[in-house]
Amino acid sequence: MSIRNLDDLLAEGVSGRRVLVRADLNVPLDKQTGEITDDGRIRAVLPTLGALVQAGAKVVVCSHLGRPKGAPDPQYSLRPVAGRLGELLGAPVRFAEDTVGDSARATVDALVDGQVALLENLRFNKGETSKDEAERGAFADQLAAFGEAYVDDAFGAVHRKHASVFDVPARLPHVAGRLVLREVEVLGKLAGEPERPYVVVLGGSKVSDKLAVIEALLPKVDRLLIGGGMCFTFLKAQGHEVGTSLLEEEMVETCGNLLARADGKILLPVDVVAADAFAPDAAHDTVPADGIPSHRLGLDIGPETVAGFAAALSQAKTVFWNGPMGVFEMPAFAAGTRGVAEAITKTDAFTVVGGGDSAAAVRSLGLDESGFDHISTGGGASLEYLEGKTLPGIAALEN
Ligand code: 3PG
Ligand code: MG
Repeated sequence: MSIRNLDDLLAEGVSGRRVLVRADLNVPLDKQTGEITDDGRIRAVLPTLGALVQAGAKVVVCSHLGRPKGAPDPQYSLRPVAGRLGELLGAPVRFAEDTVGDSARATVDALVDGQVALLENLRFNKGETSKDEAERGAFADQLAAFGEAYVDDAFGAVHRKHASVFDVPARLPHVAGRLVLREVEVLGKLAGEPERPYVVVLGGSKVSDKLAVIEALLPKVDRLLIGGGMCFTFLKAQGHEVGTSLLEEEMVETCGNLLARADGKILLPVDVVAADAFAPDAAHDTVPADGIPSHRLGLDIGPETVAGFAAALSQAKTVFWNGPMGVFEMPAFAAGTRGVAEAITKTDAFTVVGGGDSAAAVRSLGLDESGFDHISTGGGASLEYLEGKTLPGIAALEN
């Protein structure tokens, strides 16, 4: 695989040239105020944007935000992101009111060397996510007209076969940005020959979302620690009653088969925090995993489980973590996620956090980000990478 990267483009000289950068600025917004609650993904593209600005390029940035349905929808406007990006870059970012229309054209035309513009949400246009090649292609033509070269720094979106990710690089000289390069280096190491013991921690609510990655990882890992909402389907498969906990009935048999094949590699919770209701102030107790009362639901892993997971992690030389261990947004059910995250930072292993949600959990719990070797900006993308799937955005960058 040979992917050209930003340094190759910079070496050619970009001063005065228009460079189209696909970024993943899909940041969480506060539902009430519309404010950005975690700007990690904006910070993550600063090295690439900063280098292009330094080199005197006219930088045209595009991104999606949320999942609007192919038409403008003000709640998904990238305008607040343009503001934050400007603050972080230390220079105002010109914002285009549309993606490829009059405003975008005027904004791009007005750029001077070393200036940055952000186009409005790519997904306000049907062509971006269309399954129809011609419709996607037509939109890609319009986008490609804004650049003389294309940089993909949207790691979180490389698993999407979308116009800005897959079709634009077919139309312009293309390179991987600094973020995409680093993500591929790190995840490539995990997918290749990770130093052992290799311990993976998976959480999140649904087994069905993680099934493919569990199947792909089982033969590779030395230990697979499972928490979060999905642990209850595994506990059920072990024959335990799980009360009113999240349960994917149709996955119980699959989980049973995975456990049978796992050769003892899978570690499940031995205790859980069980509550009366899914609410921050619900009455709750720590109970054994095989003793969840019938009227209660598990909302976090318990302290004994955290200790067991921490012991397994302390042996590790490589760690990958994706998905919270409990409902960490509610302080009463955050201890499991916090405990596991702290245990990961204490190992001397090479540690990688995968996923928009887990990365946001790290920051919202106030944990020290520098305690991890790499915090991936990709949720679905990092999992699909580890599954060994061909990612359209990466394939498009390969020559
Ligand atoms: C993400 O948040 O996982 C990426 O930005 C991709 O978004 P999507 O799942 O809506 O394609
Ligand atoms: Mg996603």
